[in-house]
Amino acid sequence: LRVALIAPPGGGKGTQAAMMKEHFGLVHIATGDIFRAIVRGEYKGNMDVEMIKGYMARGELIPDQVVIDLVVERISQPDCAKGYLMDGFPRTVEQAKAFDAIDPSKRLTHVLYLRVPREVILDRLLGRWTCPTCQAVYHEKTHPPKVAGICDVDGTALIQREDDKEETILKRLDIYEKQTMPLISYYRDAKILTEIDGNATIYDVFSQIKEVLSA
Ligand code: AP5
Ligand code: ZN
Repeated sequence: LRVALIAPPGGGKGTQAAMMKEHFGLVHIATGDIFRAIVRGEYKGNMDVEMIKGYMARGELIPDQVVIDLVVERISQPDCAKGYLMDGFPRTVEQAKAFDAIDPSKRLTHVLYLRVPREVILDRLLGRWTCPTCQAVYHEKTHPPKVAGICDVDGTALIQREDDKEETILKRLDIYEKQTMPLISYYRDAKILTEIDGNATIYDVFSQIKEVLSA
């Protein structure tokens, strides 16, 4: 399986990816997590950290070529040979086309589009808490940790993301609608797209995904 998740910001990509990784044994590649690690200075290699930090803080997409180079390099590592799960890539038609130009044996087999209405996004992102150690994602109402403010997995104090401010969330949504939604018809034309109702409980969304990927 070589799967990509497309969803709006707060659409549940990270939440579903954590369960899919476990269930299907896929390598999880989350470009947002990689760029946040770069900003924290935890990533080796030649990267313009200040440039990346600026785009992320403004809620804008990082230039295509930077993202494409990073993903193509990641996908060529041996662990990806058994399948992978892309969370947050591709995000523009340009990125999708560049990815389609790679070795056919590494191309996507499934694209899952999690459809979530704009109205629920603000609640999801304003209530989100993330573990800076293991990247586990919680929500104060819909998916709380066992002890408030503490990661279930490793006991780390949870944090809120810098780009989860109302103004930045609205900007990310606009960018998603303009730059990422065209990918839905791109992959529908390629006949690898499945639409999932993302406005259901976390477990209902996961059941829909399991059904598609087990078929
Ligand atoms: P990225 O980290 O990819 O952010 P995003 O797309 O905005 O998505 P999020 O991580 O905010 O949400 P999610 O869909 O993972 O939702 P989650 O599961 O957490 O990208 C960040 C930035 O990096 C970009 O703005 C850009 O600058 C840069 N970047 C990354 N990739 C790039 C690329 N390819 N090209 C260019 N730039 C790139 O869920 C949200 C909340 O809802 C959580 O609290 C969760 O507990 C809760 N929740 C989840 N599912 C449900 C449910 N079914 N019901 C109720 N609550 C739920
Ligand atoms: Zn943790």
